[in-house]
Amino acid sequence: MITIKDKQFEPFIHHGQIADRVAALAEKLNADYKGKNPILIAILNGAFIFAADLVRHLTFDHEIQFVKYSSYEGMDTTGKVKELIGLSLSIENRDVIIVEDIIDTGTTMYNLLPQLKAKGAKSVEIATLLMKPGKLAVPLDVKYCAMQIPNEFIVGYGLDYDGVGRNYKSIYVVKED
Ligand code: IMP
Ligand code: MG
Repeated sequence: MITIKDKQFEPFIHHGQIADRVAALAEKLNADYKGKNPILIAILNGAFIFAADLVRHLTFDHEIQFVKYSSYEGMDTTGKVKELIGLSLSIENRDVIIVEDIIDTGTTMYNLLPQLKAKGAKSVEIATLLMKPGKLAVPLDVKYCAMQIPNEFIVGYGLDYDGVGRNYKSIYVVKED
């Protein structure tokens, strides 16, 4: 059990299992992107650890860019997506893979996809570590997902509660009181 600010969290997904699922997802990408040279667009801050682990399994040439959007405060979505750090590389006629930590309502991805397509990307796919299918509020085609979880708030492996908890190797779920 761990405590972050006012909440307690209990072990949920062990780091060994995360590593296995990240490696398996990388194998799918290796098969689909063999001989291509895609741009990975990783979403800060949450995806930094997933992206770092994922790219070390990739066997095709690629570039990586980090972008930052803001939509969350504490445990509730505000429904708004604000660009804080943008792209500094042309994606025109490039295959793009968005690397995300978790898809919750899907709002962030739903807003980002048309923006990337408007910049002339040849293809855009989503690779996410986690997804809460029960919370999805918009139509979203997620081609690559390492793990699906129920509607619960989690921390660790890059994910935070109010800015804290990204450093934990394993993933923890909030303990309802
Ligand atoms: P969406 O736009 O509602 O899909 O929200 C996606 C973003 O919300 C993710 O990139 C995370 O940063 C954050 N998020 C969603 N669920 C969780 C969670 O359980 N723990 C920590 N962050 C979360
Ligand atoms: Mg995020």
